[in-house]
Amino acid sequence: MKTLITWYGHAALGIETGGKRLLIDPFLSNNPAATVKPDALVPDYILISHGHGDHVGDAVEIARRINALIISNDEICKWFEEKHGYTHVHSQHIGGGFNYDFGRVKLTQALHGSRLPDGSNGGNPAGFLIYTHEGKRIYDAADTGLFGDMKLIGEEKIDVALLPIGDNYTMGPDDALRAVKLIKPKVVIPIHYNTFDLLAQDAGQWARRVKSATQGKTKVVILKPGETYSF
Ligand code: NI
Ligand code: MN
Repeated sequence: MKTLITWYGHAALGIETGGKRLLIDPFLSNNPAATVKPDALVPDYILISHGHGDHVGDAVEIARRINALIISNDEICKWFEEKHGYTHVHSQHIGGGFNYDFGRVKLTQALHGSRLPDGSNGGNPAGFLIYTHEGKRIYDAADTGLFGDMKLIGEEKIDVALLPIGDNYTMGPDDALRAVKLIKPKVVIPIHYNTFDLLAQDAGQWARRVKSATQGKTKVVILKPGETYSF
């Protein structure tokens, strides 16, 4: 069965695998690039990479409506429990993996901040390594700067990497290209760009640079918000 990755704009992603739906960093109602409304989504799981408002987004509302399981670091899971009374959470931390009914999720390091919208401490920011039961390996770097240990993540033989290219808050195109060389994914999908003017980037030009730097070994898939890649 195919795995589907849908980009909702910014860092918001949907993954469908083995009949389960994952929603990552659901910043939708205040996301000028999003083409979908939060109430149109029915995920089984909601993964939150870090505490910033452009990642927590509409998670509380969506989770409550359909009792989705929230997967995040311990601080963010406690915030859902203590500030929102929402207890259907599973907390992990960086380096730790856990087996769910769709596959395994491991939290990776990310170089970033994680303050929650109400000022609470959101712990350390993370990325996600997802190993589906169907044998696909997905790495969502989430918000991060470049780090050399992306080479270790590359040893996991990544099928699809989701990398920020927006610059200013995360890697820009130059460092994202260096990240591709470390991770060596079969496919890379750029995210966290063109949401606002501050994050304006030319993804087509970046794709040409990746193609030439990797001799075409890594394919760049550019999605428009709302578009799906299946593999
Ligand atoms: Ni952030
Ligand atoms: Mn962000």
